[in-house]
Amino acid sequence: MSRLLALCGSLRAASINAALLRAAARVAPPPVVVQVFGGLGDLPLFNPDLERDLPPAVRRLHEAVAAADALLIASPEYAHGVSGTIKNALDWLVSFEPFVHKPVAVLNASPRAHHADAALRETLRTMSAEIVEPASVSIPLLGAHLDEDGMVDSPGVSAALRDALGALHDAAHGRGMLRPPFQPT
Ligand SMILES: Cc1cc2nc3c(=O)[nH]c(=O)nc-3n(C[C@H](O)[C@H](O)[C@H](O)COP(=O)(O)O)c2cc1C
Repeated sequence: MSRLLALCGSLRAASINAALLRAAARVAPPPVVVQVFGGLGDLPLFNPDLERDLPPAVRRLHEAVAAADALLIASPEYAHGVSGTIKNALDWLVSFEPFVHKPVAVLNASPRAHHADAALRETLRTMSAEIVEPASVSIPLLGAHLDEDGMVDSPGVSAALRDALGALHDAAHGRGMLRPPFQPT
């Protein structure tokens, strides 16, 4: 079994990224199981002083990440940057050892949002995550007017999700082509 933890960088109720991750959970081919993490909005703003006695919301994130074989991230671009929601979550994971070398797929629901995609990847590389390229796909959903059900029912979207999840599963079990760990210069 592969336990994949999905993190969404948008807190909007009608978020395209959240719908994409929920759709991924629904089309996941066995033995892949996707859990969409629901608590990123509960995290306090990152403050290293709080790491001495971790807030409960941070403990929940840490436990979920530690239990996951791999991570799946979908996050919007705001003003040519990553959302504060996903950056805050990642900041809480910088010093969390189980995150290191964790296979991560970056889904991009809006190919025009290349600034955030590049920035997110740079942050993940700096944190020594293993970005799984075959699982990191752009699925052009902005303006497609598809909700979660529509994504599941769309042959193109569901096939892209299944392929990405399969590639992430392979990487999590050592059968994928992983990049070597990032070496700071
Ligand atoms: C404050 C704000 C800033 C945005 N800035 C950008 C941007 O710089 N580039 C872009 O491609 N989209 C931008 N967008 C559009 C969002 O990325 C887009 O609406 C996306 O679908 C939001 O993700 P969500 O549906 O998961 O909430 C912005 C949206 C908002 C609300």
